[in-house]
Amino acid sequence: MRILGIESSCDETGIAIYDADKGLLAHKIHSQIELHAVYGGVVPELASRDHIRKTIPLIRQVMLEADTTPEQLHGIAYTAGPGLMGALLVGASIGRSLAYAWNIPAVAIHHLEGHLLAPMLDEPKPAFPFIALLVSGGHTQLMEVQGVGDYRMLGCTLDDAAGEAFDKTAKLLKLGYPGGPKIAELAMQGNPDRYKFPRPMTNRPGIDFSFSGLKTFALNTLHKEGDDPQTKADIALAFEVAVAETMVIKCRRAIEQTKLKRLVIAGGVSANLRLRQRLEEMGAKLGVEVFYPRQEFCTDNGAMIAYAGLLRLQAGERQGTAFGARPRWPLDELSHL
Ligand code: KG4
Ligand code: ZN
Repeated sequence: MRILGIESSCDETGIAIYDADKGLLAHKIHSQIELHAVYGGVVPELASRDHIRKTIPLIRQVMLEADTTPEQLHGIAYTAGPGLMGALLVGASIGRSLAYAWNIPAVAIHHLEGHLLAPMLDEPKPAFPFIALLVSGGHTQLMEVQGVGDYRMLGCTLDDAAGEAFDKTAKLLKLGYPGGPKIAELAMQGNPDRYKFPRPMTNRPGIDFSFSGLKTFALNTLHKEGDDPQTKADIALAFEVAVAETMVIKCRRAIEQTKLKRLVIAGGVSANLRLRQRLEEMGAKLGVEVFYPRQEFCTDNGAMIAYAGLLRLQAGERQGTAFGARPRWPLDELSHL
């Protein structure tokens, strides 16, 4: 079975072809970062228009690279939510229409399920069940994953998502967008002994997160200490360490609660090397295996959508000719395979 995957939920157009026997045949990502950077964040209408410009040319390129004709495809998977309504509708309408024209099935994929399964694009694949820490620009959730579609929420953020906290803190440090990679880069010059930021919500039991206070802490430190380059680097490092350590504490609690021995981290923030390193150290101590996607599949991409689509199409799931998009879409509404 060979599947075309289309991702267009936010500011990346991602296209990929995944083959059940041969694995990932080709994938391309067009990032809109430059388009939105001048505005300091994603402008939804510009995002939709850019997806319209890029989706079909990218599909052509990927099919050429994968040496695949429409007759060789067995299905199309597209992201149907959550995300920006207009952006989602571009991928959904192109995906559904191509499937109709080529007379093959289509399947609507949940963006976070795509992230969650992204570590399975490489070997060794994490086996079910596992704990998943999903950390992206819009979501921060700890989940118990028993199988595809079988997701139980253990904890989530009460305010900002982890990626959002990186982006907002980067903005107040005047580092630009997207903030995660910029903070990580600047933090490399930081002095680890200068500041210690709080680890929010760790001095009481529970697995929920809160990140908005950290951003305020960064702002207050900046006002008090000035914005010379070294101070900014020291703040970036203290912020990054605080986020990573908070996640380590919450993951440890999730491990203790569920007794599971595998941990998956996925979503844009899982690209963060400090976070990966701290979680690996914790995993080594507790005898827990830690999995994450390869760097390019941490942030939005078409490969994860094609892979999730393969699993759902293999299980017989189909999207009828009527289709839509769901800007909000709780993960626990998905069907179990
Ligand atoms: O998964 P993603 O591409 O899009 C959403 O589904 O939201 O995640 C994007 C988020 C952004 O907030 C970005 O700042 C963050 O992931 N991010 C990072 C890193 N790379 C991307 N955060 C921390 N460290 C990084 N290296
Ligand atoms: Zn994402």
